[in-house]
Amino acid sequence: MKKYRVGVVGALGAVGTEMLKTLEQRDFPIEKIKPLDIPENEGKMIVFRGERVSVEVAREGAFKDLDIALFSAGEAASLKLSPVAAAEGCIVIDNSNAFRMNPAVPLVIPEVNPEDLKWHKKIIANPNCSTIQMLVALKPLHDHFTIRRIVVSTYQAVSGTGIPGMAELESQVRAYTEGKPLDVKVYPHQIAFNAIPHIDVFMENGYSREEMKMVNETHKMLHDDSIAVCPTAVRIPVVRCHSEAINIETEKPISVEEAREILEKAPGVKVMDDLSKNLYPLAADLAGTDYVYVGRIRKDISVENGLNMWVVADNLRKGAALNAVQIAETLIKMNLI
Ligand SMILES: NC(=O)c1ccc[n+]([C@@H]2O[C@H](COP(=O)([O-])OP(=O)(O)OC[C@H]3O[C@@H](n4cnc5c(N)ncnc54)[C@H](OP(=O)(O)O)[C@@H]3O)[C@@H](O)[C@H]2O)c1
Repeated sequence: MKKYRVGVVGALGAVGTEMLKTLEQRDFPIEKIKPLDIPENEGKMIVFRGERVSVEVAREGAFKDLDIALFSAGEAASLKLSPVAAAEGCIVIDNSNAFRMNPAVPLVIPEVNPEDLKWHKKIIANPNCSTIQMLVALKPLHDHFTIRRIVVSTYQAVSGTGIPGMAELESQVRAYTEGKPLDVKVYPHQIAFNAIPHIDVFMENGYSREEMKMVNETHKMLHDDSIAVCPTAVRIPVVRCHSEAINIETEKPISVEEAREILEKAPGVKVMDDLSKNLYPLAADLAGTDYVYVGRIRKDISVENGLNMWVVADNLRKGAALNAVQIAETLIKMNLI
């Protein structure tokens, strides 16, 4: 089997660390791993498959000896360095928002629209974490019942803001319990013991950019701009795993039994739904896992063809690192690399 030379840009960050772990755990065919980060982190060591590897600087020339570059260093780094990496011969799988809505760049979830990989021109975008878990759960239902409207509220973990988000929650919880003033830097308000309906910047229409990502990315990946999407994105003091309350309206009649049967067979999905045992997906239990978990499947009693569900996934795994590695695996499977 062919082996690949893989770079991870932002290797010391929350997603980068998870990418390295995911590549190891899934036994990705690797000839060489190259962790790349900012100049201040040059020479720091990571351990990959039991070997110590030195972090190098992500800059022009660093991609010439690589086949694949997994980017998770933020939008500015992606805008600057992804085209450089592509020009130096790499296929770039980019986790940031930089290229997601670029019509020349495929935006892909392997369980949803792998066919879009066929038209890649070296840069492929990894969708927003909230959109990934929503569409992994909804695509199989859309295929059977044709979704016309989605109303979604997210309950998003602080690791969605990377290492700084996790550090802020931890320091605020400590300060709160010690009766000290809270240091508020990463979020616009205290995140400890709070719920903040504000993720990313606000747009002119009153929605946040995070919310509009869920609208626009859904349309791009399902190839249908007519699906109505109404999101509310909320940050909560959970470390890992985003939860979503999702309501759908469908063209065809939909029953709980049919939906459950379809979801039980759907790729990447696990149904966790037994009210008699208080069983439903919980963020605290699912950190570090790879599936999109669906529970509380119930009829929307207010409309003709509607369904509600509760969907949880690890934002650092399926919401970021795992989806990126699965894109690379799918490229190999489809002979596109
Ligand atoms: N966290 C999630 O759940 C999630 C989900 C989907 C997508 N993403 C996206 O993934 C990206 C990274 O997020 P994260 O959560 O991993 O953030 P993070 O924990 O802050 O990590 C980012 C890493 O990239 C490094 N970096 C910054 N500028 C760089 C540059 N020019 N070249 C190389 N490395 C650079 C950072 O170094 P310093 O910290 O030392 O500056 C840090 O090590 C973002 O674009 C984010 O939107 C995150």
